[in-house]
Amino acid sequence: MTAGGDAPGMNPCVRAVVRTALGNGLRVKGIRCGFEGLLAGDFKELGARDVGGIIQKGGTVLMTGRFPEFAELRYQRLGLRKLNEAGIDALVVIGGEGSMNGARALGQLGFPVMGIPASIDNDIYGTQMALGVDTALNTIIEAIDKLRDTASSHQRAFVVETMGRSSGYLALISGIIGGAELVLIPEQDIATEEVAAAVSDAYVRGKTHAIIVVAEGASLHGQALIDALNAMNTGFQFRLTILGHVQRGGRPTAFDRLLAARFGVSAVERLLAGEHGVMVGLQGREISAIPLEQVCTEKRRANLDYYRMARMLAK
Ligand code: F6P
Repeated sequence: MTAGGDAPGMNPCVRAVVRTALGNGLRVKGIRCGFEGLLAGDFKELGARDVGGIIQKGGTVLMTGRFPEFAELRYQRLGLRKLNEAGIDALVVIGGEGSMNGARALGQLGFPVMGIPASIDNDIYGTQMALGVDTALNTIIEAIDKLRDTASSHQRAFVVETMGRSSGYLALISGIIGGAELVLIPEQDIATEEVAAAVSDAYVRGKTHAIIVVAEGASLHGQALIDALNAMNTGFQFRLTILGHVQRGGRPTAFDRLLAARFGVSAVERLLAGEHGVMVGLQGREISAIPLEQVCTEKRRANLDYYRMARMLAK
């Protein structure tokens, strides 16, 4: 099953899960449309050819959806019943935080589950990288590079808003690798005056443009930030670009495809070895597994060394 917001890398991961399982003599059913599809009994038998030609595609061929109602015990019990009726022995859930919570709930009811982290936000505890993050970062820096062309032609400042919900990861990393003057993230408060000071400092140092990357969850963001900055004397005129869902699409990068393959193979091999109730994750160079209990109760923290790095490199 793929669940929650889609992420590039879900398709190569579905392919890896299916082919590893088939190669080990198992039968595989795909659940369409996430947890809602589970409750509707929307299952489809998958063969090796059914997952052919999808390795390079963004999105998810299994379709996905958000279903916060799955937090309720009555839906979890119905889900368990649907799995049992279909003769399923184990479930692999590919998704973000909410999906890992759904997987954990089924595990707590006694069903063997395996989580695979996939979310462009990179806010899931227990893995250094989730599927989709690398592709999203590449999409963001391509946009920043293009915006810089027009910004410097007009001596303008651009505020580029990234996704990430309450996590500043995408903004922080794309700010560093996109050469932003400043990054605004939910994990680090900053006053509008300080933002204006950083931009006017860039102007005085002779810069022809300024890029500020703002996470959607930052306290300062959107048109209100632009209006406040335009009312201050920084030397630049400000424009806003909200990247939006374009960040969730596109061909998975080489990094995401390899991670998808490694996660998918490891997930099935661990289930075959009798391991369940865990999520596979990337720790250093290794694929490890961490209890879903821990994934769902601990919070991934922002690395504020990156924040300091972003400010230092902007000078
Ligand atoms: O979790 C992924 C994400 O793209 C977030 O960055 C964003 O806040 C949210 O999903 C948007 O959700 P939806 O596509 O349901 O509007």
